[in-house]
Amino acid sequence: MKQEIFRIEKNIPLTQNVFEMTLRGRSAGLAKAGQFVNIKLDGLYLRRPISVCDAEGDRLTLIYKVVGKGTEKMSEMSEGELDILIPLGNGYDLEKSGGAPLLIGGGVGVPPLYLLAKKLIAGSKKVTAILGFNTKGEVFYENEFKALGCDVIITTADGSYGKKGFVTDALPENYSYVYTCGPEPMLKAVYRAIKTSGQFSFEERMGCGFGACMGCTCETVSGYKRICRDGPVLEKEEIKWQTQG
Ligand SMILES: Cc1cc2nc3c(=O)[nH]c(=O)nc-3n(C[C@H](O)[C@H](O)[C@H](O)COP(=O)(O)OP(=O)(O)OC[C@H]3O[C@@H](n4cnc5c(N)ncnc54)[C@H](O)[C@@H]3O)c2cc1C
Ligand code: FES
Repeated sequence: MKQEIFRIEKNIPLTQNVFEMTLRGRSAGLAKAGQFVNIKLDGLYLRRPISVCDAEGDRLTLIYKVVGKGTEKMSEMSEGELDILIPLGNGYDLEKSGGAPLLIGGGVGVPPLYLLAKKLIAGSKKVTAILGFNTKGEVFYENEFKALGCDVIITTADGSYGKKGFVTDALPENYSYVYTCGPEPMLKAVYRAIKTSGQFSFEERMGCGFGACMGCTCETVSGYKRICRDGPVLEKEEIKWQTQG
């Protein structure tokens, strides 16, 4: 883990309350999709964790939803610098993907799947991405995933765009493995619905973000784990959820 200063290059709204921030800095070492950064913001004690959406050369792209003080501050920054801890977390393991991996993202669980899709496609995998949102106005990055070469399925809960329903209503017949990130109710539904193994990324509330405070601890099949350090990605078989009910 390193503390680096990044310069804000661009910070634009993708929807009413979701922003894409492009930064320049020493992002070398941010090699794994599914890792996250922890951002220091003036006047706030705790850093705010945000997944790496893309990292190439010295460019780092983050996508975040404005939900409170920290993300609101971020949305107001059109220039300047940010103090960022990189890289954090384990990230997704690409080795297990098989030939036709399925990526399932919900809301701001979509961003870490972008770098994952990019890497899987670079490895000649046939990638399908199901991106789930509540309504048409919340949809982002459909074209970006298509431009990578993914088969993209959009779902909206209210049916205003794409397929009506939840991500689990759009599962294809065949896929070799699943990678997913999103709100916990969605992860639980995916856990029950999928036919293969997979990896689940948790956006748990955090304290320190690097393993020191135990604030993000959760119980797994193999004992207690810190989501910030041992995760945020867990294997399906490690998760202690019921398959029914
Ligand atoms: C590993 C990881 C990766 C993440 N990646 C992204 C990402 O790519 N894009 C993105 O938009 N968000 C992401 N998040 C969530 C993001 O960290 C929080 O939304 C952010 O810290 C909220 O800060 P805030 O100061 O704006 O809100 P606060 O003022 O701290 O809180 C506002 C409200 O949001 C709730 N909240 C705060 N943190 C979380 C959380 N982690 N999960 C659910 N509710 C929360 C609070 O309880 C409160 O109700 C990620 C979280 C983790 C742990
Ligand atoms: S947030 Fe402190 S140990 Fe995970």
